[in-house]
Amino acid sequence: MIKVICTDSYEALCKQVSRVFAAQITLKPNSTLGLATGSTPIGVYSELAQMVAEGRLSLSQVQTLNLDEYVGLGAEDDQSYRYFMNHQLFDRVDIDKSRTHVPNGLAQDPQAEAARYEQLVASMGGVDIQLLGIGNNGHIGFNEPCDHFPMQTHTVALTESTIQANARFFADASQVPTQAITMGIGTIFAAKKIILMANGPKKAQILLDTVAGPVTPQVPASILQLHPDATVYCDAEAGALLRQHGLVD
Ligand code: PGA
Repeated sequence: MIKVICTDSYEALCKQVSRVFAAQITLKPNSTLGLATGSTPIGVYSELAQMVAEGRLSLSQVQTLNLDEYVGLGAEDDQSYRYFMNHQLFDRVDIDKSRTHVPNGLAQDPQAEAARYEQLVASMGGVDIQLLGIGNNGHIGFNEPCDHFPMQTHTVALTESTIQANARFFADASQVPTQAITMGIGTIFAAKKIILMANGPKKAQILLDTVAGPVTPQVPASILQLHPDATVYCDAEAGALLRQHGLVD
């Protein structure tokens, strides 16, 4: 059973999740953090940046591994996930950027890059705490609904629903890359602790499916039901159906 913690607002959600990350870093300053992009975690990164600015937290010893990157976009492209991480977090805190890792979207051979990244995660001893968003279709990272759980970091063709969901960040849907490199379900599942965050009414149904539906690769996040330490943190809107079904305290 996945634990669910529901807050009143997005702001409260970000405060709670950032406190969990701060506690992890305080207890183990050289933690390996698994980080996510998308609109959901932006408030968490702001909270962490504020804690660092106020001298309450230091990220100087952490190392980070991001979940995924678009194939074809580099660090200078403002839609790349490396660019996002630099701007939302890394450039705002005392982190050693050489210890921050995102798959290289400009690698000549994306499949070789995926294999390199999988090795990198292993060589760093795995992830201590993994932050996840969730796609409207249940994807985590870019592990899209399919007929099996892909285990390792791999290249993936994005589904039409993900391309449409991400088109809001681009001039139009035709500009959205069609391929990505993503940690696999096995790579993600190996994290010691997993925090899946969701906010807003569009995520209510998929959270119910994730927490209380069958474990199926058609809802990739449902695998978290089997994880020993996975928690869903959501706001009231995303948690509405969970609450209706008595799955939130
Ligand atoms: P979002 O994306 O945070 O922008 O909703 C989540 C995801 O697709 O994983």
